[in-house]
Amino acid sequence: MNPADRYGPLPGGLHEDPARSYTMPSRYYTDPSVLEDEMDKIFARSWIFVGHESQVAEAGSYKSVEIAEESIALVRGRDGVLRGFYNVCQHRAHRILQGAGKLKLTMVCPYHAWAYNLDGELRTARGCENVDGFDKSEFGLKQVRVETMLGLIFVNLDPGAQPFAEQYAGLEVDILRWMPRAGQLSFAAAENFHFKANWKVVIDNFQECYHCEPAHPAFVDLVAMPTYRNKTHQFWSAQTSDMPHANQNSAYDFEPGDVDFGYAGYFVWPNLTIWLMPGEPNLMTLQMLPDGPEGCLEHLHWHSLSGELKGQGKAALEYTVNVLQPEDIGLCESVHQGLKSRGYDRGRFIVDRDRTHISEHAVHHFHMLVMQAMEGGALPVPQAAE
Ligand code: FES
Ligand SMILES: [Fe+2]
Repeated sequence: MNPADRYGPLPGGLHEDPARSYTMPSRYYTDPSVLEDEMDKIFARSWIFVGHESQVAEAGSYKSVEIAEESIALVRGRDGVLRGFYNVCQHRAHRILQGAGKLKLTMVCPYHAWAYNLDGELRTARGCENVDGFDKSEFGLKQVRVETMLGLIFVNLDPGAQPFAEQYAGLEVDILRWMPRAGQLSFAAAENFHFKANWKVVIDNFQECYHCEPAHPAFVDLVAMPTYRNKTHQFWSAQTSDMPHANQNSAYDFEPGDVDFGYAGYFVWPNLTIWLMPGEPNLMTLQMLPDGPEGCLEHLHWHSLSGELKGQGKAALEYTVNVLQPEDIGLCESVHQGLKSRGYDRGRFIVDRDRTHISEHAVHHFHMLVMQAMEGGALPVPQAAE
């Protein structure tokens, strides 16, 4: 067979059927020009998670975040509305806000002290009364789309983007089914990690539990592996398992509470994962952010009912930070090195008809979404699968 004919008919050589498809070619993980393209075609056009409403709860509170190499300022107005702005002064383009904090009446640019109301309107520009035809209404801050789900904040730089609730239809209801109080939680703690691996390697790793039995001995003691399933939807997927067999296990001990189901993990295109762990009500976000083509910053946020980290939540987070993450970091860094090898280009997915706990169909689903975003509309939309 001509090697060029071996791969599937879709861009990147993918096949619509995961059982017949090869994986995404390795250059998509290593080529710096691919990452540049991803900034435009993925990060500047998708709903990107930026934090929890409890972090910007009061009027005047703000947080600056980075999306697609842009600084974005999230600001809670005096009217209670949370807005997002390009964090760039309309005078001569200095950055306006740094980090996070609380504003009184205005945002003041540090360069020449132009001041903006919290809704983005230009309030004062020193000396502008002496400038012919100066119209303050021309120089308001440029706004970006902000939407929330269960208190989680998402920003989209594309003004024409489909609303979050439409694009991710069914996600909120699915989370509430497993975690009924998910909408009552507050930000409690953060941890940061750095992987020497492309961000997509880290998402691939999240999307399957084929590696759990060889690589995560405590995790497979925590969840009931034979019941583990991964269901894909158009722009998200959900991994769930039944109630664990024991509340005492080698990961962490917990009392059965709201969350008696075991574990649920969500992938939210393009780079967010949401984890619901056994025990007290909780919601963990783990977001993969590119740091060049060969690095990934991972931001972990823990949310709890009290807004504090204690008890079972603390035990669950300690297990995640001290055991599970180091296991996954080692795997991802080795894979990234392998993707650069002359001895590798692409592999196959292990999938089975019943989509059992070892099936890798959700990795294929992610590769299809990447190709669809990067190579245009020629791909069929990935369909939901059990
Ligand atoms: S650049 Fe902001 S006031 Fe001049
Ligand atoms: Fe893992």
